Amino acid sequence: MKNKFILLIFTLVFLFNINAKADEGMWFLSFIGKNYSEMKSKGFNLSVEDIYSINKSCMKDAVVSLDYGDCTAELISEQGLLLTNHHCGYGEIQAHSTVEKDYLTNGFWAMTKEDELPNPGKTASFFIRIENVTRRILSELKDDMKEEMREKIIKNISEEIECDAIVDTHYEAKVYSFFGGNDYYLIVYEVFKDIRLVGAPPESIGKYGYETDNWRWPRHTGDFCFFRVYSAPDGTPAEYSPNNIPYVPKYSFPISLEGIKENDFAMVMGYPASTNRYLTSWEVQQLIEHENDIRVEVRTKKIEIFKKHMLENEKIRIQYAAKLAQCSNNWIYSIGQNKSLKKFKVLKRKKLLQKKLTKWINQDYKRLKKYGKALDIIKYAITDNSNYNLINNYWLEAFYHGSEIQQFALANFALIGTFGVKKLLTETCDNLRTEGEIYFQNYNTVVDRELLITMFELFKKKVEPEYHPDIFKEIEEEYYGDLNKFADDLYSKSFLTNKKRYMEFLENPNERRFNNDIGIRTAMSIINLYWDIIDKKEVDDYNLIKGKRLFIAAYLEMLLSENKNALFYPDANSTMRLSYGQVGGYKADGKIHNFTTNLNGYMKKEKQRNKEFFVSEKLKELHKAKDYGRYADKNGNLITCFITNNDISGGNSGSPVINGNGELIGVAFDKNWEAMSGDIAFETELQKTICVDIRFVLFIVDKYAGASNLINEMNIINN
Ligand code: ARG
Repeated sequence: MKNKFILLIFTLVFLFNINAKADEGMWFLSFIGKNYSEMKSKGFNLSVEDIYSINKSCMKDAVVSLDYGDCTAELISEQGLLLTNHHCGYGEIQAHSTVEKDYLTNGFWAMTKEDELPNPGKTASFFIRIENVTRRILSELKDDMKEEMREKIIKNISEEIECDAIVDTHYEAKVYSFFGGNDYYLIVYEVFKDIRLVGAPPESIGKYGYETDNWRWPRHTGDFCFFRVYSAPDGTPAEYSPNNIPYVPKYSFPISLEGIKENDFAMVMGYPASTNRYLTSWEVQQLIEHENDIRVEVRTKKIEIFKKHMLENEKIRIQYAAKLAQCSNNWIYSIGQNKSLKKFKVLKRKKLLQKKLTKWINQDYKRLKKYGKALDIIKYAITDNSNYNLINNYWLEAFYHGSEIQQFALANFALIGTFGVKKLLTETCDNLRTEGEIYFQNYNTVVDRELLITMFELFKKKVEPEYHPDIFKEIEEEYYGDLNKFADDLYSKSFLTNKKRYMEFLENPNERRFNNDIGIRTAMSIINLYWDIIDKKEVDDYNLIKGKRLFIAAYLEMLLSENKNALFYPDANSTMRLSYGQVGGYKADGKIHNFTTNLNGYMKKEKQRNKEFFVSEKLKELHKAKDYGRYADKNGNLITCFITNNDISGGNSGSPVINGNGELIGVAFDKNWEAMSGDIAFETELQKTICVDIRFVLFIVDKYAGASNLINEMNIINN
């Protein structure tokens, strides 16, 4: 039975790129040949080997993952120039900004390579190779194995495979699970670590429309910025050093000034981080009620606090800009996702699908034996864990993503066990000192104090006392329940809340002081609660993994039994994917949406008193003079953004949008409000990828910033 199971999975994998629809699908690159005829019919003019080849350099070599999956970026020059989204470089732009040198507000342009700014910790991962390791992993497993044991074995073999793969190289390797643990692939990467900031427009362009326009079309945002990959003089990855040189890539994208027409072929290559297209109805319900609703509830309060303080104080505005952006981006996402999940009746669709699957399973004894329990297992695991999942999500939002001392304390837990060991202690303190420098640069006690009080109050109100952290009892007993008094102590005494105290502590680290620190104790009590909940959830969580694996295998098998050419793609998991489709508008809620926006529309959105729609004098002048040069379209307008029906997700931000000739026409940066449940269920008619037009990018670089140094190193195809 085991072998047969493996055989079945092999068939699945082999077929995994035959699909019915063009737009839906985040295709696996090494199987892209299966989609080729359809791509060609849509207007792709090159060969499969131009996209993905193991023998020659090609597009796959020019698409990188930033920071192990946060974003995507593409190489656009032979000197390692990387193009990505402004919101992908936002953290770095913010970190280099001060009230005096405010790159957020004014933009940043390195006119020479010497001016480019290093970003310790930032990485760019290049794809080297992929290998199917399913057989090796599954052959060590038994069908009747306990799930916990199974997961342990998978983890161990994966680590072994990863180690073997990089022996005698400077590469990094990772084994990924696909289709809920039915398939496994090893991917090897070359990870570069000296990634410098090269250029970014001011926020008023790079973030134009801010949260009002976020996740919306029509859009006019110039959401792009540039980094450069640096290597050691021998071309290999190295930490930052002034001796490093611009990386010479195997491949970089040529840039098209041709522009786009409706129905033009468009493809996106990139690193989508996570989709959940194989969710069951119970999981969808949980997502709506116990994840999204809670996230929205808690973040509404956080955003209020951030905004209030940022408005009052210039320094805080800069310190908290990236934190606010991230917090509200996910907040809107959750609001939109719930709205769309309900609107498109995803729950009902899932139930119908499950009914159909059950019928199919029941038709055959062997199927029944193999898959008969899958749905019940999932249902039980989710319902039984429902309360813990709710608590866990409050924990995540109110504690883990609440006051910043929680995560900072976790970093400092590295000290545990080092106090007696001098060398280790010194090393750990050195690392923590660096971490502290970065942490306190963007930390304000007043903001954090208000966050902590608000989040503690909320958790107390929403979660039964049985699941409160121990520190709540201390607050009751020692501070008579007065959170303000507790916070007074915490913020005036803990070394986690003051840079001077922190650095002094690291100079003279003492175990007793560490253990007695009120911040450390608070964080410890909160983390203990977490482990408690995880412990209680564990049995059901393991069962859920098993149920999902069987459910997905059954579902795919059913699809194949209906149509032997049926094709499916695995959920996104931060591995490189390709999506192909076309440029085009859409109709929603009685409105027809054109597929492009332009600078005239940009100017119409201007609101003088609203920071979100501020337009600088310089941009106004360029617009007035229609000084667009070769970046104008055929009617003399400057296209700002356009939409396609590509299938993307978080992590794809910054992905290259490529035309039928393999040239860069834009950078993907968002999705649209009308189909926010796309990560769960793709909406063929409505779901769009929002891209900044490459001509808008070049116009800003060239005419607005005057950074001709960058223009000169790109390969721009002039027609
Ligand atoms: N919605 C975009 C994404 O998730 C991020 C856009 C960033 N802009 C903003 N205003 N927060 O990739």
